[in-house]
Amino acid sequence: MNSQASPKILFNQQEIETAVKKLAAEITEDYQDKNPLLIGVLKGAFVFMADLIRLLDFHLEIEFIRLSSYGQGRITPGELKVEQGILSQIRDREVLIVEDIVDTGYSAAFLLDYLGKEKPASLKFCALTDKPSRRKVPVNIEYRGLTVPDKFLVGYGLDCDEKFRNLPYIGYLESRD
Ligand code: IMP
Ligand code: MG
Repeated sequence: MNSQASPKILFNQQEIETAVKKLAAEITEDYQDKNPLLIGVLKGAFVFMADLIRLLDFHLEIEFIRLSSYGQGRITPGELKVEQGILSQIRDREVLIVEDIVDTGYSAAFLLDYLGKEKPASLKFCALTDKPSRRKVPVNIEYRGLTVPDKFLVGYGLDCDEKFRNLPYIGYLESRD
């Protein structure tokens, strides 16, 4: 990898594992015997989702949903579209949205509103990381992993222009933001 672009480590593998285990314990407490539907938000949440579900020792189902903005850069309200529908599966299910990061909150607020219209039995939100300093709209995050500073994070699924998702740690890029 280009050393010039090496991110600074914010959370190493062990710190991430500890956070994921804690979330898995909380989710187990609330969802075992409920056969929940976990909906991962692509692409960023796929690494977290893969680690999380292997710590959940009860029946569950998974789906993925993808949001994309029409333009380049950060998502703003009105620029969201859902590319992959899973709406028919939601009614009367215990649904848990699984995200990599909540930044402005626009994506999370949109998803909660959008999926909530399909009448799930319950709808909650799990985020591995939370950047509260950037919040523009309030979001209820029932399962929160790591609170992070206002830096652009990469690794463990998180990308910068599609790069760095494969890093086993979460780091930040100093040149961005
Ligand atoms: P929000 O709608 O502003 O809360 O942003 C949510 C989405 O933006 C996340 O699911 C990420 O895909 C992306 N995002 C926000 N902050 C970061 C970051 O620091 N690194 C990588 N992606 C980010
Ligand atoms: Mg995301």
